[in-house]
Amino acid sequence: MDGGSCALWLSGVRAGYGKAPVLNGLSLSVKKGEHLAILGENGAGKTTLFRAILHLLPDIAGTIRVLGRDVKSREDGAWVRSRVGYVPQGQGKGRLPISVFEAVMLGRWGKSFSYFRRPGARDRELTAEILDVVGLWDLRDKDCRALSGGQTQRLHIARALVREPQILLLDEPTTYLDDASRDVLARLIDQVRKKWPLTMLMIIHDWQYARRLADRAVYLRRGRIEECLEVV
Ligand SMILES: Nc1ncnc2c1ncn2[C@@H]1O[C@H](COP(=O)(O)OP(=O)(O)OP(=O)(O)O)[C@@H](O)[C@H]1O
Ligand SMILES: [Mg+2]
Repeated sequence: MDGGSCALWLSGVRAGYGKAPVLNGLSLSVKKGEHLAILGENGAGKTTLFRAILHLLPDIAGTIRVLGRDVKSREDGAWVRSRVGYVPQGQGKGRLPISVFEAVMLGRWGKSFSYFRRPGARDRELTAEILDVVGLWDLRDKDCRALSGGQTQRLHIARALVREPQILLLDEPTTYLDDASRDVLARLIDQVRKKWPLTMLMIIHDWQYARRLADRAVYLRRGRIEECLEVV
């Protein structure tokens, strides 16, 4: 398989932050529409893998193919980032005094509106649709700084979804969530899957939770994918 039919295809990837690479000959392929869980110890390189996919690291060797395109140049990196949604690890609450609706719609900044172009009907429609899917529609007028941790996590996911990504990267989406909020998040991810045929990569520490959310789980160790575990 050369990765043409894959959402993501990585082969022999070496990348890091200088000196010894964090990813060291990593290979991985993810099919279109697949939900993949990534497990691994603290410091194993899980977040670094996401940063490599997004072309956010200084030196990347090996092949990274995203949606059939080899990612090598800065232009390729920008192309990838316009198609791959990213919810980073441990994001706090926003500091701006804006409503939940506005905070989510801001996800479309640079895509369909900017300093020179105001948000249009399509931006509002899509924001409303996604707020409904993530269960934040009733809170749409609330100040986004006043949300709980679980609600804030859903807001971050909504803000990534509103850009209409083909691939979504979620880095430890369950951090700070209690059991009830983790259930809500799992249902949200099911809902998203029913509505949009997204490819999803989720960094998750809890194996049981990974089984619930993903079709397949991989284990990252010493800069490589060490085990592939089918989730049945
Ligand atoms: N900006 C950076 N500059 C230099 N080294 C970094 C940087 N970010 C991460 N590292 C190093 O790269 C290695 C992998 O870090 P990474 O954040 O990818 O791990 P992780 O698997 O996501 O861990 P965690 O489960 O704690 O989030 C670690 O040794 C870390 O110290
Ligand atoms: Mg991390």
